[in-house]
Amino acid sequence: MKDVIILGIETSCDETSVAVVKNGREVLSNIINSQINIHTEFGGVVPEIASRCHTEVINPVMKKALKEAEITLDDVDGIAVTYGPGLVGALLVGVSYAKALSFASGKPLIAVNHMNGHIAANYITHPNLKPPFLCLIISGGHTNLVRVTDYNASEILGKTRDDAVGEAFDKVARVIGLGYPGGPKVDNLAKEGNPTIELPITHFENLDFSFSGIKTAIINLNHKDPNINKADLCASFEKAVTEMLVGNVKRVLEQTGEHKIVLAGGVSRNCFIREAFDHLSQEKNIMVYYPEGILCTDNAAMIAASGYYEYEKGNFAGLNLNAVPNLK
Ligand code: KG4
Ligand code: ZN
Repeated sequence: MKDVIILGIETSCDETSVAVVKNGREVLSNIINSQINIHTEFGGVVPEIASRCHTEVINPVMKKALKEAEITLDDVDGIAVTYGPGLVGALLVGVSYAKALSFASGKPLIAVNHMNGHIAANYITHPNLKPPFLCLIISGGHTNLVRVTDYNASEILGKTRDDAVGEAFDKVARVIGLGYPGGPKVDNLAKEGNPTIELPITHFENLDFSFSGIKTAIINLNHKDPNINKADLCASFEKAVTEMLVGNVKRVLEQTGEHKIVLAGGVSRNCFIREAFDHLSQEKNIMVYYPEGILCTDNAAMIAASGYYEYEKGNFAGLNLNAVPNLK
């Protein structure tokens, strides 16, 4: 069978990334230009600055991706691009660029849902992983427990009723003075602390999540005592968040009798959360999967991987493709 080479493009937030992936599973290159240093000064992503930065770097990032993969555009079978969800101005840079590339080269354009990309990151790290499976998507903008029924097809079983888990990490980090990006900073500091502080965890009848109560409790504790041990705060925050995540996953595993859970999204890079799921794997004798670190956070290899399965279905986009910031 002929190899299928997909060029992936990702610009939904603050990473400009272009990747080349073979047969949906083998990464030939994955160039990521992070804007973290630029946004750090502002304590978070400034959408207008993000769009401008994508425009400046996307062409050199694409060239580098082709060079590292040792191919030319002629060798590419399809151009996959994130068209949502994300920041509209940021998405538009990638979508416009991909459309121009598709028009100029005559290669088919493939529209990828960013969340399917996060799930597809696991197909790269785990070459034998195939749907169906349960998946917990934990990112900066989303917290969804889903059943992945097929490649790029899933149904939502539970979702957050307030903050996304990554958003809660970022807010906690900002309030206690760790700065941006919050997730990795909380992750590191928590390793030096003990989870000694009790935090309120809301349980729902269904499989929904809530993180704002935990986040607000942390903010109030820090406000009452600015000298409170920050490492203990981080460790306690991670413990409460993890209890909520693992709790719902345990319930859905029991309800469905399934024995596979896949983690996806930036927060699945968190050490404490990974340890907790590894523990669950042993306790319940189930399989737990998560992507290798660099594929958890935004990158174009995962977009190319998801795009490959659209390519296989012959699911191509027209040159009228638009960015859809609230894509479900
Ligand atoms: O998936 P992602 O790269 O972008 C979105 O699609 O949202 O996720 C970014 C989120 C941010 O909130 C970031 O703080 C969080 O993932 N994150 C982490 C870690 N690394 C990134 N959260 C906890 N621990 C980490 N090590
Ligand atoms: Zn993402």
